[in-house]
Amino acid sequence: MRDADDNRSNTAPAHVAIIMDGNGRWAKARGLPRTAGHKKGVDAVRRTVEAARELGIGTLTIFSFSSENWRRPEEEISDLMGLLRFYLRSEVAELHRAGIRLRVIGDRNRLSDDINRLIDNAEGLTRDNRVMTLVVALSYGSRLEIVHAARRLAEEAAAGRLSPDAIDEDALSARLYTADIPDPDLIIRTSGEKRISNFLLWQAAYAELVFVDTLWPDFTKRDLEAAIEEFHRRERRFGATTAGSR
Ligand code: IPE
Ligand code: IPE
Ligand code: MG
Repeated sequence: MRDADDNRSNTAPAHVAIIMDGNGRWAKARGLPRTAGHKKGVDAVRRTVEAARELGIGTLTIFSFSSENWRRPEEEISDLMGLLRFYLRSEVAELHRAGIRLRVIGDRNRLSDDINRLIDNAEGLTRDNRVMTLVVALSYGSRLEIVHAARRLAEEAAAGRLSPDAIDEDALSARLYTADIPDPDLIIRTSGEKRISNFLLWQAAYAELVFVDTLWPDFTKRDLEAAIEEFHRRERRFGATTAGSR
């Protein structure tokens, strides 16, 4: 774990995660179809990835599609999957040039074969990049992630490969999609909603939460910097009485 007062220095948080919300409302306010908001949302993703890299953030996680978003109308899902294909085809070379490693977390079984192939290719191509890691949460739901981890622990215990006594926080963390990714320091949600919506529930145990009114398509580098400034004003205690007394 990092020092409790680390976030009061001027260094960028190591891991920033964003719940990108408000595409639909952005479109509605302009009398446009929801897809138009999602398209603008892709531009905001491009800007934000670039801004995060410039600010020296080590890991940027973006919540792109939740396991609950499968409940949306078929047409909207198909538009979103189309945009995902477009992003994976058009942006990966640029991510690679910029030294960014791409990782996808979520229930890959529900994604189509061609999208899974694009993801495999992108992850393979960018595997050794070290400038920044971009984690895309896709068909992601935190409760299901924890259930899958619990099931794996149970299977290993039942098979005699794991003693129940050895099941601790690290053992569970190691079986989440995020096993090799540090916990988020800062979670930002756009669009004025103040909830977590089943995102990184375990990993967010000590994250600072920043809620901003900006709708995702309007999110800029300035909004990211403002959220990081807010993060620097917070005092992280990790359960201790003051930041310095751990
Ligand atoms: C976020 O925008 C994108 C996804 C969840 C895929 P929304 O589509 O949730 O937009 P609002 O919340 O309806 O404005
Ligand atoms: C959360 O946004 C999921 C993503 C940003 C991908 P939603 O718009 O789906 O969340 P709720 O339904 O408002 O909680
Ligand atoms: Mg929403």
